[in-house]
Amino acid sequence: MAMKVDVLLGLQWGDEGKGKVVDVLTPRYDVVARFQGGPNAGHTLEFEGKKYVLRSIPSGIFQHGQINVIGNGVVLDPVLFAEEAQALEKSGVNLRSVLKISKKVHLILPTHRLLDAALERAKGGAKIGTTGKGIGPTYTDKVSRNGLRLGDLFHNFEAKYKAARDRHLNRLKSLDALPEEGVLAELEANWINALDYIKSFDIVDSEYLINGYLNQGKSVLCEGAQGTLLDVDFGSYPFVTSSNTITAGACSGLGVAPNRIGEVYGIFKAYCTRVGSGPFPTELHDETGKKIRDLGHEYGAVTGRERRCGWIDLVALRYAIMINGVTQLIMMKSDVLDSFATIKACTAYKIDGEETDLFPFDIDSVNIEPVYTELPGWQTDLTKMKSEEEFPEKFSAYIRFLEEQLHTPITIVSIGPDRCQTIVRK
Ligand code: GDP
Ligand code: IMO
Ligand code: MG
Repeated sequence: MAMKVDVLLGLQWGDEGKGKVVDVLTPRYDVVARFQGGPNAGHTLEFEGKKYVLRSIPSGIFQHGQINVIGNGVVLDPVLFAEEAQALEKSGVNLRSVLKISKKVHLILPTHRLLDAALERAKGGAKIGTTGKGIGPTYTDKVSRNGLRLGDLFHNFEAKYKAARDRHLNRLKSLDALPEEGVLAELEANWINALDYIKSFDIVDSEYLINGYLNQGKSVLCEGAQGTLLDVDFGSYPFVTSSNTITAGACSGLGVAPNRIGEVYGIFKAYCTRVGSGPFPTELHDETGKKIRDLGHEYGAVTGRERRCGWIDLVALRYAIMINGVTQLIMMKSDVLDSFATIKACTAYKIDGEETDLFPFDIDSVNIEPVYTELPGWQTDLTKMKSEEEFPEKFSAYIRFLEEQLHTPITIVSIGPDRCQTIVRK
């Protein structure tokens, strides 16, 4: 019988801990696949005293020979991919035997990155605070039917590349952001070298590959990047990324039909963070926010930027659970709240004096006052616990409270960055 595809994705503004949990769940699957985003992602894994940050390569590569797929919905920067892949090869990962890359991934050109920077500058105070990896301009080219795909390498590539580059240079000129002489030539040389390196990997029709695996009874886990509140349709637009980060993105980003979707794991932090600009109703600008940042080491895995921190937002989580069809929840970084005497959870928004539990269209411009429920902290070190039986009652009560509020079971609880610090609940 054909297997279903399970999806794991972020329910907040990214950095929920997707990389860690994909690594933990990989032994249950035959295939792990990324379906969207690009090197704007930074997925951290820790085990055996080592730490890795993955950007474009799926988080299933450290387990036992599972196939890892970079799906058509991903945008790939050859230079950053080569850096990432070479570092992994150096540390002993046999990448070539397990990694497959879709012919249909769109390529991030050097000029896409220049455009990302120039467009952000042009926005001035309204800038999005992108990761600067060329994500927006690359997806823009894809949708406007001007993109360059990895499979084009074998079809009149040079002419297609030059056309795209010249179009980008015109645009850069109009933004008064043409690169200095020599700069582009060097970027291009690195880019072409990196493409040569990519050619040594399996470049495949990943939609046939994945559906073939499913028909053979093999199981697939899809790994999301970013988070639901950064989704281009449903996130806090325009302060979002340029792809569909939601479950539906796994269908279009891999060529998997909607009726093939099985479990949807929705992952969230016991609090909330966001990096870059844009609305964040439960953001804390005080000492508590700083304490969460310090204890949670909330600095970007890719850019090193400070992450903004705040209390958990159940209005946004309920919205994300609805959009994604989440069947199981995974709570991360519970240990970060170990020392707090009280913990707050936002259960509704107050807008112009009226309470609502809906995520507003104009979240960017309305004034939202979060309505909080205060819960007692557990004030116990969770990080060495091995099973949920060891959880202090107040932490169990926090979990029950969230499950009731979110109408969805929390099946995994993370209590530290290491692979081992993961409790699967019964
Ligand atoms: P991703 O982008 O969703 O994969 O998440 P990131 O890797 O960007 O950010 C998550 C950060 O939290 C990483 O530094 C992880 O090592 C760390 N982390 C993951 N789970 C836990 C946890 O349960 N507790 C603590 N303290 N850190 C965690
Ligand atoms: P992972 O997969 C957190 C944010 C950027 C910016 C906005 C648009 O590690 O969770 P982009 O470069 O995509 O055009 O930036 O999205 N952003 C992320 N924030 N985690 C990520 O990925 C992110 N990828 C993009 O900070 O606000
Ligand atoms: Mg991240």
